[in-house]
Amino acid sequence: MNDQIVPVITIDGPSGAGKGTIAQMLALDLKWNILDSGALYRTLAYFMSKNHIALRDFEKKLEFIKENFIVKFDPGVADEPVKVIFHDQDITNKVRNEEIAKKTSFLASDPLIRTFIKPCQREFKELPGLIADGRDMGTVIFTDAQLKVFLTASLEERAKRRQTQLKRQGSEVNMRLLLQELEERDKKDTEREHSPLRPADDSVIIDTSNLNPKEVLKEIKKYIQI
Ligand code: C5P
Repeated sequence: MNDQIVPVITIDGPSGAGKGTIAQMLALDLKWNILDSGALYRTLAYFMSKNHIALRDFEKKLEFIKENFIVKFDPGVADEPVKVIFHDQDITNKVRNEEIAKKTSFLASDPLIRTFIKPCQREFKELPGLIADGRDMGTVIFTDAQLKVFLTASLEERAKRRQTQLKRQGSEVNMRLLLQELEERDKKDTEREHSPLRPADDSVIIDTSNLNPKEVLKEIKKYIQI
């Protein structure tokens, strides 16, 4: 039996705090697996919408969902988003947009959805190690992680980053609208009853507002003893 410990580093925080960039840099640097749990929730929202599955029918369709919800992540290359692979098809651009983000935030506050996603997330814990990016990676999913990081940044800075990211993907977005959407999503994520967004008690909290990704990575590496 292989009972080797699989090390996990969790990176939690609100949208635009830099989780995706930092998780990718760490995964590429350490050559570990990556779980982008936000993208996993986004993919479920995309999958349900494509198959016309309403939340109220989730339990009824559970077997079909379990059989067909097959997602993988590829850390890809620096400066490009982590790739979301659904049934061997790259659906990154289909799920990384604000329309899906809104649907996702609604779905993700439902306990049925969170219960379904929990074991899916834990399956990504494989050797040589896992970088898990999300909202509740350190507080709920991988409570025994070797290192827990919580990234924050001001709302304005996070909106600016999101705008740059969306522009790079070819979507033009209005800054005022983006600020409003981020604020609403933050509120929903932090105030929800199930797995609200909050730093784990044993996490390292880093405010990235005035740091570039390399500086954040350097800061995190001070805590890696794996
Ligand atoms: O990180 P990202 O913006 O892709 O996440 C999309 C949405 O998925 C978040 O707004 C949040 O509602 C939800 N989410 C979550 N728990 C996670 C990751 C994401 O509820 N671990």
